Amino acid sequence: MSTAPTPTPIGLRVAVIGTGQRAQIAEHVASSPTPASVVAAVDTTQAGHARARGLFGTDIDVLDSHTALIARGGVDAAIVTTPDWTHAEIAVDLLRAGIAVYLEKPLAITLEDADAVLQAAYETRTPLSIGHNFRHAAVVRLMHEIIARGEIGEVKAVWVRHFVGNGGDYYFKDWHADRSRVNTLLLQKASHDIDVIHLLAGAYTRRVVGMGELAVYGAIEDRADRSDQTMSDWFSYDNWPPEEQRGLNPVVDVEDVSMMLMSLDHGITASYEQCHFTPDYWRNYTVIGTRGRLENIGDTAGGTVKVWNRRRTWSTQGDVEYPISGVEEGHADADFDTMCEFLAHVADGAPTTLSPVAAREAVAAGALAAHSLRNGSIPMDVPQLAPELVTYFSSLTTSTASNALDAATR
Ligand SMILES: NC(=O)c1ccc[n+]([C@@H]2O[C@H](COP(=O)([O-])OP(=O)(O)OC[C@H]3O[C@@H](n4cnc5c(N)ncnc54)[C@H](O)[C@@H]3O)[C@@H](O)[C@H]2O)c1
Repeated sequence: MSTAPTPTPIGLRVAVIGTGQRAQIAEHVASSPTPASVVAAVDTTQAGHARARGLFGTDIDVLDSHTALIARGGVDAAIVTTPDWTHAEIAVDLLRAGIAVYLEKPLAITLEDADAVLQAAYETRTPLSIGHNFRHAAVVRLMHEIIARGEIGEVKAVWVRHFVGNGGDYYFKDWHADRSRVNTLLLQKASHDIDVIHLLAGAYTRRVVGMGELAVYGAIEDRADRSDQTMSDWFSYDNWPPEEQRGLNPVVDVEDVSMMLMSLDHGITASYEQCHFTPDYWRNYTVIGTRGRLENIGDTAGGTVKVWNRRRTWSTQGDVEYPISGVEEGHADADFDTMCEFLAHVADGAPTTLSPVAAREAVAAGALAAHSLRNGSIPMDVPQLAPELVTYFSSLTTSTASNALDAATR
């Protein structure tokens, strides 16, 4: 009896660390133009080991810890999709072992840890990419292009409303609900939007004020330990209304409604509001410039970005309207582009659209906003990152996005 030969992995040898819900992004490795294959996976649970084999095949190595992976050797790059509180330690260990890192957002749950990750990448010159895949979303690219063409003039204000209609299922039934695990949903969820606010404004946050409450989910007493499950096991649109949610995480102490005001470089201001008990799930951006404003209605295919650039009372119709392309739901297209960018960066040194500095600035604004909202809404100033790190990471990113932003604001 003949058996089929085991295919030899070619190109980059990739490991996936943390094989829960988000590990699916590593499925794009196989279809990336950069030759690469998943050769190993790490998870601390048996359920995670089973998911690893289901996602990446039974011939990969499955290990219990990232330190065991480092000891094993034989990997060029790691995709880290573990929970937020583990990000900094795992990333620093991998970088110091010379393994290139794709680290899911948020970069870390404190500013100190974020800076430690950047420092490790800087000292070792090991590639580091942070999973701000929202930068690759069609709606964000479209808004950025409209602004870059000057259609609304010079950006002066950005207002973002984030209706997290799936919030109860996504964030209050596992570790996401626990401050010791995430710090704040202004990092876990908002780090994408803070980053995009910075991108659209062409400036970083320098001062921030926060306000928020645990308004709904804290009062639900029915709790469950779901540590052997992932979100798709319990997600349902039937879990409605929010007060009737059941089986929340044993610890629920993060805010379910949060607001932050940001003062950015160049006198630009921004606001971000996030609510986890709305019926609908999408983000609404308004960007106001000196010659008009834009607003997205819907944030995936089928939606529109509207631009108003004539004086009027009000009109639901924009003076110009642009259809949003891409996927109709979710972010598989942005995930694919994000993974391709990471692998090309590791293999060929291709520049990335997002600098780790931008990911650090998102953590800074979110973490300090949470500190503000938990301490009487005191204003918090964002400390500057060391200039040599800004210069180093700027040299690794494209000229159109974050390094231009870094240069402009430093
Ligand atoms: N960019 C995006 O669009 C996006 C979307 C979803 C999640 N995420 C991010 O992905 C990360 C994971 O989220 P998730 O929803 O997959 O969580 P999850 O709980 O479903 O999965 C986490 C997995 O990591 C494992 N794990 C925990 N600690 C570990 C450790 N020290 N070493 C190895 N494995 C460990 C768990 O057993 C679990 O299998 C989070 O940081 C989240 O912010 C990003």
